[in-house]
Amino acid sequence: MKRRWRAAAAVTPLLLLLAACAGNAPQDTLEPKGPVARQIDNLINPVFIVAGVIFVLVQGLAVYAVIRFKNRDDGAPEPVQIHGNTRLELTWTVIPALILVAVAVPTIKVIFDLSRTPANALEVTVIGHQFWWEMRYEDLGIVTANELHMPAGRPVEITLKGAKDDVIHSFWIPPLAGKQDIIPGRESRMSFEADEPGVYLGQCTEYCGLSHANMRATAVAHTPEEFDAWVRNQQAGPRTPAAGSPAAEGEALFTAKGCAGCHTIEGIGQGTVGPNLTHYMSRAVFAGAMFDNTPGNLTRWLRDPPAVKPGSKMPNLGLTPDEIAKLVAYLQTLN
Ligand code: CUA
Repeated sequence: MKRRWRAAAAVTPLLLLLAACAGNAPQDTLEPKGPVARQIDNLINPVFIVAGVIFVLVQGLAVYAVIRFKNRDDGAPEPVQIHGNTRLELTWTVIPALILVAVAVPTIKVIFDLSRTPANALEVTVIGHQFWWEMRYEDLGIVTANELHMPAGRPVEITLKGAKDDVIHSFWIPPLAGKQDIIPGRESRMSFEADEPGVYLGQCTEYCGLSHANMRATAVAHTPEEFDAWVRNQQAGPRTPAAGSPAAEGEALFTAKGCAGCHTIEGIGQGTVGPNLTHYMSRAVFAGAMFDNTPGNLTRWLRDPPAVKPGSKMPNLGLTPDEIAKLVAYLQTLN
């Protein structure tokens, strides 16, 4: 039995070490992909080293003392009892205080640096909903969901808003920035920047209900030209499906089945409960970035949303396979 415990004790750290070796770790905060994340990383590393050295030193001394001064002789007399040692106590108060001051100086500098609004920032409002993100570009007249589109090499200044009737969420794109809570009825701010164009995965990091783990996000950094093209497309009105096509029937169903009560498609519906779908097909993901935006996934979703995303506020509308096919055909036209 003892041997088994010893084996388990030896294997556990090895497993933990192996778990740290994932090659494909897109949500790795320790591999910063932008200046804000890099600044935080540059702070974590020295602080971690200081803490690591202290940990090893203190644990090492503790283990040494346990082994070296173990009572091996039952008949040994009780050791001399001492109380208080001014010099020792001063030493172990002053040294940690100095270490904390040394750690506090760069920490406070980073906190102040990061709270400054960068010049030339793109303003975006991010609103947390159960269980998806609303991204509003008020200056540009754009409303989208789950994907934060931004130009690489230019900072975004994000206003995080909590919807009044919602719960606390936390917005985190690990390769780009630290996390920031979204509190109902309140506003907070954060800013960050991506060095290179690319797709950066994010995640809600405040437990917010059944689909907290499904509440993902992506930050999509574009070249300036790509970003301008994205803006122009988002600002354009919705596509109108060809008359008589299944997509046109889908458009009629969108209103008839009540979808328009929750979703906005410009000119069709003004709902604000769910994501704005005017340019649904311009997004690579849907349902809180839980699914890739494919017709198959959308079909599965429309059949019974809460079955594939627990706690989803989008109800099962009891659509027939034919209605689902037409709605999917319609949504496919919304580039
Ligand atoms: Cu939203 Cu967790």
